[in-house]
Formats: sequence, C-alpha cells, structure tokens
Amino acid sequence: MNKKSTYDQPDSRGHFGKFGGKYIPETLIPAVEELERVYLEAQTDKDFQAEFQRLLREYSGRPTPLYHARRISRELGFDVYLKREDLNHTGAHKINNTLGQILLARRMGKTRIVAETGAGQHGVATATAAACFDLPCVVYMGDVDIQRQRLNVFRMKLLGAEVRAVHSGSKTLKDAVNEAIRDWVANVESTHYLIGSVVGPHPYPMIVRDFQAVIGEEVKEQFPTFSLGKTDPDWLVACVGGGSNSIGLFHPYLDTDVKMVGVEAAGLGINTNQHAATINCGSYGILHGSASYLLQTREGQVVLPHSISAGLDYPGVGPEHSHLKDSGRVKYVAVTDDDAINAFNWLCEKEGILPALESAHALSFLRQEDNGIKSGDTVVVCLSGRGDKDVETVATIMEQKS
Ligand SMILES: Cc1ncc(COP(=O)(O)O)c(C=O)c1O
Repeated sequence: MNKKSTYDQPDSRGHFGKFGGKYIPETLIPAVEELERVYLEAQTDKDFQAEFQRLLREYSGRPTPLYHARRISRELGFDVYLKREDLNHTGAHKINNTLGQILLARRMGKTRIVAETGAGQHGVATATAAACFDLPCVVYMGDVDIQRQRLNVFRMKLLGAEVRAVHSGSKTLKDAVNEAIRDWVANVESTHYLIGSVVGPHPYPMIVRDFQAVIGEEVKEQFPTFSLGKTDPDWLVACVGGGSNSIGLFHPYLDTDVKMVGVEAAGLGINTNQHAATINCGSYGILHGSASYLLQTREGQVVLPHSISAGLDYPGVGPEHSHLKDSGRVKYVAVTDDDAINAFNWLCEKEGILPALESAHALSFLRQEDNGIKSGDTVVVCLSGRGDKDVETVATIMEQKS
C-alpha cells in the first residue's frame, strides 16, 4: 500500500480542509465505522498486504508499463510518458480499488456486493472481483449509460453480476449512486457497497485513494529508469471524473514540486449548461455523503451534467480534489467532447493505442496551446483505460460528421 508522505490528509474525521466528512443516514454509521476500523487494521496486517500485492501482480498484471510515446512527443516538442492503466486486467485502473475493497468486504464477513457504474469499467472490475471471490454482485447503472456502454453491460452479465437499470434523473452515474446507496441502506448487514471512485462518505475517499496510489508509486520507480537525469517528471496529467485515477497518480507526489493537472469534462463547453466541469464551475455542497464542489443551482438542486464520456459524467467530485484546488496544489482544466474525440483519434493513429474517452480528455490537454508545458519538459499522463468500450460512440459521431 502507499508509503507515508509528509502530506497528511484527511484528518481523523475524514475532512480534507472544509471538504469530506460523512453526511449519511444513522443506519449507515456502524457500517462506515466498521469499514474504517477494518481498513486501518488491514494496513498493518502483513497477510492482507501480501494477498493484495499478489492479486495486483498475478491477477491484474501489475506493474503496468510506463511507455515513452515517441511519435506524439516528437510532434509536441516535449516528452510524454503514458502510464498504461489500460493494460490492467479488465482494461482500466478501476480493478486496483475493487481488488482491495473485495478483500476488505471478505474481512468484514460481508456476503453480497453492490456497486454503481458509469462507463461500466468499475462495474466490470467489481463483477470480476466478485466472481473471483464467489460473492453475489448487483451493479446499478443509469439507462443512458447502459445504452452507450453496451459492451461493458454484456461483460458484467458474463461475469455473473446482475445489472440493474436506473431510470430516474439523468439516468447516469449520479442516479446509479443514489440507487446503490438505497440498496446499501436496506441490506447493510450483509452488503458491502464497493464505491468506484474517491467519493462518498469517509473513509471511502481515503481508502479508494490509497488503493489507487499504486499508480503513482509505480511511476516513482519507473520514471528514473529512463535515465533522463531527473528523478521526477515535470508534469503529471490525468482526467477527473470522481477523481480516482488522478489522485492515484498524484498522491505519492503531493509533497514534491511536480506540477499536476486534473482534466475535467467540458462537454459542449463550460459556458453552456452541458458539461461536467465540477471543480471549474461548481460550488460548495453535499452529495452522496460528503462535502465537495458540486454542480448545483442557487437553490441547491443538483444540475444534470453532460459529457460524451460516461465515466466523467458526474456532477460531483472527490473531496480531496476540491481541497487540492483550493490549496492551489493542483490545477484543474476542462476539455470539450470534440477535443476529447480528436485526441482519441490522434492517439490511435500516432501510437497505435485506443484510449478510453475519459483518458482522451487528459491527452487533449497536451495539445492545448496555452498549457504551459515547455519544450523539453517531461509529462506523465495517466492512460486510465482502454477505448474498446467507446468505439461505438466514436463511430456514431464520426458517421454523423461525415
Ligand atoms: C477508463 C476510465 N477513466 C477514468 C474514469 C473516471 O473515474 P475516476 O475519476 O474515478 O478515475 C473512469 C470512470 O468510469 C473510467 O472508466
């Protein structure tokens, strides 16, 4: 698990500055307290750690490579290294967290798993871990996401999970989380809610971050092997939905002076009301059990977000990101649907890699003229997932444009 750094968040009550905490119904308090206790015990339990490391290595295929993307580097005039989370088993970073949480669920004696999913990657990773540990699994997914991520819906079913369609609200990730929480409240004795990002009540944002910190920890070991005369890259760049792949990359570097950029989804543009740029455009509020930035009206009604990418289509964001924004440690920008699609095509053609549309947002930042990256800089981008799940979406858009 993650090495200790001088960066010491959250506090003992789960606050990252004014963000975080646990705003949940009374019935869930014992469950999150048990989760925190079991997690803290597991951190110092050698057997738990050995099994987690074994699963990451043997089952998921870690460490994932750090790849010097030479063709795009030549074009851009600075050096780009892709952290290949797409090469994990199931095709995204989500498996890092699900393997850790499934071990915690087993340690707590839970016999059933519920999860939410947007892009389907977390649903697939959870269904996979549940199959591996012989636990029944229900995945909630918004109807809109079911339509645009059909491949992942079928994968979850093949893995033995029950996919429950959510027809309320915007029929996307926010609504799937609402339903998963409802199920958890009703079945809390037997059920572990396996949250897929650094969101939700304390201790989830901390636990998911720590399980995902393997991304940045590996980069810390891999980057110096390129013999560039540098210990650390100049920049880290990652897309931000709930915020787990980005915090996983950033966290081990927070007490260095490496520049960090989180890339949100600007959808049709941040000046429209069709985006999911929560940190850039949101305000302080409470959603799904914690305080963070949130897309909401003046009256506190959650605004329906929009992104071409199901995994970024969420009106909230992990509380630690809101804190990192306010402290100025991380810069947050936003990239439109169109620019993400262009970056998707660019990586396919230039490097022979199909990125997830989520990851394409991070890649697109590299092409922004005013991004501040200087010639000769080194940039590590988290390629959070592979794009097979998005091929249908991209094909439809390309057909519409031709
Ligand atoms: C491939 C991929 N990248 C990124 C994300 C965004 O999530 P997070 O911000 O938690 O990494 C998702 C979410 O589904 C995803 O599937």
